[in-house]
Amino acid sequence: TSGPTHEPIDPVRYIANRSSGKQGHAIARALAKLGADVTLVSGPVTIPDPDGVKTIHVERAEEMHDAVVSRLPADIGVFVAAVADWRVATSADQKIKKQPGDAPPALQLTENPDILKTVGHHEKRPKLVIGFAAETQNVEANGLSKLERKGADYILANNVSADTGIMGGAHNRVTLISKSAVDHWPDMSKSEVAERLAALIAKTFS
Ligand code: CTP
Repeated sequence: TSGPTHEPIDPVRYIANRSSGKQGHAIARALAKLGADVTLVSGPVTIPDPDGVKTIHVERAEEMHDAVVSRLPADIGVFVAAVADWRVATSADQKIKKQPGDAPPALQLTENPDILKTVGHHEKRPKLVIGFAAETQNVEANGLSKLERKGADYILANNVSADTGIMGGAHNRVTLISKSAVDHWPDMSKSEVAERLAALIAKTFS
């Protein structure tokens, strides 16, 4: 998975996040370059579909969840999307209008499905399940807790605080977390992170 999800409020407004899809798309491209048969399920992004990859475009977290689960089984699952944790419980069919004197509308939110967690515990679980952890504090501890909670083999945890420029930017600095090891990767371009991860995945399968 890659990119953000957009959760509609009404036909013209949505809740979203700053994900660009650069890291997820780069990983899809790097795996395809090594010969993998890659299906990329992408939220709305402005970057092109990677060459050599089958790309499925979705908008909402529920659509992304269904697109992923319906394509199991798979050997490897890599979950890079910044999936919106919440959606508006009942999005409006018509544009919500301002009425003079009315208070701003209150948005009632409800939780979205956790795609990585679903796949990490699925009866058709891929042999290798990899997720990311977007954090602004306690990066390693939060990454480790996501590894366990979501049933992943690896988590790439990164600090997405605004001053790092990582979310939406061209570079990334990740900490690779498994049950047995924590490996701090240096600052690299998102393509380099993708190639290093793809090489690690290929080694696991060779
Ligand atoms: N993820 C997912 N489905 C969700 C939320 C997250 O598949 N509904 C995946 C992401 O693609 C990523 C991992 O779970 O691989 C961690 O996502 P992150 O946004 O860091 O964490 P959350 O689970 O959303 O937890 P929190 O917002 O509390 O940090």
